[in-house]
Amino acid sequence: MRILVIGSGGREHALVWKISRSPECRGVFVWPGNAASLRLATPLDLPADASFEKIADVALSLKIDMVVVGPEGPLSAGIADLLTKKGLKVFGPNQAAAKLESSKSFAKKMMQVASIPTSLFEVAKNRDECLESAMRILLRDGGVVLKADGLASGKGVFVCQSEADVLKGIDRLYGESLRAASSEVVVEEMLFGREVSYFCFVGSGHVTRIGFAVDHKRLLPGDKGPNTGGMGCYTPVPWLAGDAGDQVDTLIVHPLLEAMARRGLTYTGCLYVGIMWSDKGPAVIEFNVRLGDPEAQVLVVSDSTDWLPLMAATVGISLKKITQVAPPKAVMGFVIASSGYPYGEAPDVDAVIPWSVVDQKLEGTDIFCGSVAPSFEGVKTNSGRVFLVAGSGFTFKSARARAISGIDSILKIWPQAQWRPDIGKTALQYEEAVLSSVSRMPIVLGSSSPRRRELLGNLGLNFIVIKPETEEVPFPGENPTAYVARNAREKGEWICKSIKNSHPHGAIVISADTIVVVEQKLLEKPLNPTEAKDMLSLLSGKSHTVYTSVRIASISETGAQKVKQFTTATIVHIKPLSSSEMDGYINTGEPFDKAGGYAAQGLGSFMVQEIQGSFSNVVGLPLAELADSLQKDFDIPLWRDRKDF
Ligand code: AMP
Ligand code: GLY
Repeated sequence: MRILVIGSGGREHALVWKISRSPECRGVFVWPGNAASLRLATPLDLPADASFEKIADVALSLKIDMVVVGPEGPLSAGIADLLTKKGLKVFGPNQAAAKLESSKSFAKKMMQVASIPTSLFEVAKNRDECLESAMRILLRDGGVVLKADGLASGKGVFVCQSEADVLKGIDRLYGESLRAASSEVVVEEMLFGREVSYFCFVGSGHVTRIGFAVDHKRLLPGDKGPNTGGMGCYTPVPWLAGDAGDQVDTLIVHPLLEAMARRGLTYTGCLYVGIMWSDKGPAVIEFNVRLGDPEAQVLVVSDSTDWLPLMAATVGISLKKITQVAPPKAVMGFVIASSGYPYGEAPDVDAVIPWSVVDQKLEGTDIFCGSVAPSFEGVKTNSGRVFLVAGSGFTFKSARARAISGIDSILKIWPQAQWRPDIGKTALQYEEAVLSSVSRMPIVLGSSSPRRRELLGNLGLNFIVIKPETEEVPFPGENPTAYVARNAREKGEWICKSIKNSHPHGAIVISADTIVVVEQKLLEKPLNPTEAKDMLSLLSGKSHTVYTSVRIASISETGAQKVKQFTTATIVHIKPLSSSEMDGYINTGEPFDKAGGYAAQGLGSFMVQEIQGSFSNVVGLPLAELADSLQKDFDIPLWRDRKDF
């Protein structure tokens, strides 16, 4: 295929980079392009202000099979309509569908008719209406969001938490620079949660998920300072549930496309859903009708799938069948911007970054160029967002380290640049606390003993309990320690087998068995008062040993197992017991579900004269040894509320 990419930013550099790598690509052209995208693609012989008509004529003469439109501006001005009329295939929606981005009130109305989760809103037709709605919602909710209806390059949204914010927002909305976009203003409730963006390619009956990314909109670290077009982002989004994509498709994308279709609107191109994700699920902040910038730059690196056939399918061109070749790589992207951004001020300096830096061959580091001008040795930095440095790896930690090497090489030449070192902090924290260790796996206690449940709870772990259905019968002549270890193993194996389907992503299974041995004789649980009395008589005035064998097994997604097992012994000395003491104790009912017929932690504590070794071992779970093994062998932190992540 021969492809023409329209646009001149970092997103279009990334698109040209991605498309030119496709085996299906027989030529890639770019217009207007920038110094970096023009190195990978052929320029069109057209001025930067050429009309859509002229672009169509040149594209037809070059036998372009598909035109990919990067930015929203030309789409909302109708470029897709005109090129399509001339017989070209366009990845990007027509003007009517592009209203999803170019008119916030249109987007809100579509969401309303399609019952898509979003904030409640009103549309103000003038300044007075806007003030009235905004103050009413502010006083009721403590917050309100004002949005210019039309395109405003991210500068038309005001998130207000005070009257002063509202007044300032209204002044800006009805001021000179935003007046055209503010003929209508959407006044909406504030949403709370975590922001995330979702991307899919839509058209000709296909909806193909590309993925999620998180953008950092504010200029300064800690999400402070003014809104920007985006200062960096990461993908994929590890804190989302595994079915998040399905939820977005079911609750948002399909209802939207159906509601549009009912109005005779078809959609072709990338649909970008800005989402606020809370414990109630996703709610739409906004729709965009294109890829994000800088989200495109991290997505092209993360997703090793060939995008060209996916894009072609949306315009009705069927190439080879796509199979996902690899899971997405962790990618962190950092924007390097000029000083003066986003205030529209001239940068302190214009630097020249040589091609050796831009094209650097560091493994897992890719640099995309946005606001740059050509220069003999490399690219000259313009005002605005100049580079997106993407680092990729198996983990966000390694991805970040690779991005930082790229950033360092730019900053050496251009120390005046602005960037946010805290991009992807949440992903890193999440990864460190959860993903990098097996501690994210659910813990299963394979035991019916309420005492073990309480003891394990003392380690501050969340776990579920499953009762193993194994028999506990010693083989003839079986050594007691071999027997207790076999019981713990068989319980653990039984649990691992039984949870295979319910826990496809793996689990940590803890199983244990406790026995009491006195004078080489194995004492289990007494079944009746006579057995209880026999056991207590045997223990009276003597030392016995309590053995608990503990088995910890982590089963991974692939079924691989790591197993640790240990048996802990504690010597307990029982005082001489009178017959009436024994009868009285048996009458309390406590001996019956206890190995050896007594509970050292319960009413039976009166008989325990001395203990050598772990006390919790006598109760049923040697906690000191268990705590050590969970932390050292299985990376499971104690007393951390695992639900926080
Ligand atoms: P937009 O241009 O619609 O993406 O808005 C810019 C930014 O304003 C978003 O990325 C959000 O951080 C914030 N925002 C927009 N609408 C809302 C809302 N209803 N509640 C909370 N924050 C919002
Ligand atoms: N990075 C946000 C956008 O492209 O709209």
